[in-house]
Amino acid sequence: MSHTMKQYLHLRNSHVTGVISLIIILLGAVHVKVAECREYDGLNNVEYPAINCRNHSAVLTDFGGVGDGKTSNTEVFRSAISKLSQYASDGGAELTVPPGKWLTGPFNLTSHFTLFLQKDAVLLASQDESEWPHLPVLPSYGRGRDAPGGRFSSLIFGTNLVDVVITGQNGTIDGQGSYWWYKFRNKQLKLTRPYMIEIMYSDQIQISNLTLVNSPSWFVHPIYSSNIIIQGLTILAPVTSPNTDGINPDSCTNTMIEDCYIVSGDDCVAVKSGWDEYGIRFGMPTRHLIIRRVTCISPDSAMVALGSEMSGGIEDVRVEDLTAINTESAVRIKTAVGRGGYVKNIFVRGLKLNTMKYVFWMTGSYGSHPDPGFDPKALPIISGINYRDVIAKNVTYSAKLEGISNDPFTEICISNVNIQVSEQRKKLQWNCTDVAGVTSNVTPLPCLLLPEKGNFNCPFPNDKLPIENVRFKTCSLKTVF
Ligand SMILES: *[C@@H]1O[C@H](CO)[C@@H](O)[C@H](O)[C@H]1NC(C)=O
Ligand SMILES: *[C@@H]1O[C@H](CO)[C@@H](O)[C@H](O)[C@H]1NC(C)=O
Ligand SMILES: *[C@@H]1O[C@H](CO)[C@@H](O)[C@H](O)[C@H]1NC(C)=O
Ligand SMILES: *[C@@H]1O[C@H](CO)[C@@H](O)[C@H](O)[C@H]1NC(C)=O
Ligand SMILES: *[C@@H]1O[C@H](CO)[C@@H](O)[C@H](O)[C@H]1NC(C)=O
Ligand SMILES: *[C@@H]1O[C@H](CO)[C@@H](O)[C@H](O)[C@H]1NC(C)=O
Repeated sequence: MSHTMKQYLHLRNSHVTGVISLIIILLGAVHVKVAECREYDGLNNVEYPAINCRNHSAVLTDFGGVGDGKTSNTEVFRSAISKLSQYASDGGAELTVPPGKWLTGPFNLTSHFTLFLQKDAVLLASQDESEWPHLPVLPSYGRGRDAPGGRFSSLIFGTNLVDVVITGQNGTIDGQGSYWWYKFRNKQLKLTRPYMIEIMYSDQIQISNLTLVNSPSWFVHPIYSSNIIIQGLTILAPVTSPNTDGINPDSCTNTMIEDCYIVSGDDCVAVKSGWDEYGIRFGMPTRHLIIRRVTCISPDSAMVALGSEMSGGIEDVRVEDLTAINTESAVRIKTAVGRGGYVKNIFVRGLKLNTMKYVFWMTGSYGSHPDPGFDPKALPIISGINYRDVIAKNVTYSAKLEGISNDPFTEICISNVNIQVSEQRKKLQWNCTDVAGVTSNVTPLPCLLLPEKGNFNCPFPNDKLPIENVRFKTCSLKTVF
């Protein structure tokens, strides 16, 4: 790795520091000024929080990267990460992407590695299909989501990794998804579309402080993984784009999603765990998940969807302080006969909703099977679903809660909810079938299957998940302009 670059950085840095000291002496400036200077300087020492810092660092241009938006950097990324992977057992490495437009095809991450996107760094996903490797279908799905065969690799992919950070100063990853949306709509794809970031069979993942735009399909897909922190993402896709889910924790344990802003054409967050007979066989639940301080705009989908693929089970999900604007539903359950699995111990509190079709929506007849091989006797168990402290305005339906006959959704608890229905409100505000539970202080008055039982709050756990106790380190990085 580039020693010259390091020396260069060191020299430039001492030079800059010298100049700054001189300015201080000359003008008697205060420290605050110095900090301001550095923020806008051509070369600075950025501090950033991460689960781990790295002992080696390199810049994409060290490997011949060209940030003109036209030259392909696919081989540059692949060889850079391959070279940096040798430092995995020597304190790890970070790769900085400087300001510029960096066109690239998919590349794979490595362990003990940080990808850092500086401010005004933009990764542009290649639209040359031949650059996208094909991957086998996910074992818990049995087929691709778009097509029965295999699937394209995600733009940023990782498998069997430990300790990976993707972060930056709000740099951008642009999936240039319109190419894929067009081909998908016109049934011109034989494989399932790429995701933007997919990490599988991995542990200790941080994805933070980035802007992600126009993914070909789902944006962030951690699967079969644990100890995942997703923080400070701005995720943007046209609300009409197909299946551009924001963040999809899938068969993952110990995940924290916080401080994100998501505008998308599908669910802002979709919690999953495999599909029908494939998901049942794979048997890996999503559990111990916290989602907080997320804002969502998604007129045709949910702020948080649980399912529809939930055959490995979903449990211990905590949702707190979420805001939805012009979104179809809030924290929704989607399932079907044949899914098996369960959704249980779900805790939701503190929702602010404005312009919603449904505040509460559970669907037991979602359908959508991978193939005719699903087991019609595999009934999902939906139980222990708790909502409290919800304020909603301009709502069409307060609730549509549809369980499965002979398989009711039970132990539903809803408390302290105020719903203002819209001018176009429907007459039947609470449509409940095959559900059981209780309510307290809810307006408009709930259905008879969810009777008012006096004054109480629905439960929300007092303990913290292990992922909430992860302490960040302060890493420093020299960045170039
Ligand atoms: C990422 O965002 C957090 C919260 O806003 C902030 O504390 C942190 O310094 C940011 N990191 C970088 C590299 O800007
Ligand atoms: C990495 O750097 C840290 C801090 O400088 C040091 O304590 C640690 O020993 C280094 N690790 C390796 C493997 O060199
Ligand atoms: C990434 O890894 C997967 C699985 O090992 C492999 O199939 C794929 O070709 C790799 N992608 C690249 C760009 O090397
Ligand atoms: C990051 O960039 C997006 C898109 O420009 C912007 O909307 C968002 O406010 C920025 N986030 C921060 C923390 O600066
Ligand atoms: C209320 O919701 C309707 C859609 O149901 C929407 O057209 C209208 O703009 C919303 N009004 C306000 C004040 O947000
Ligand atoms: C209530 O929900 C049931 C089950 O989904 C549906 O069949 C019925 O049409 C709904 N009733 C109204 C008035 O919307």
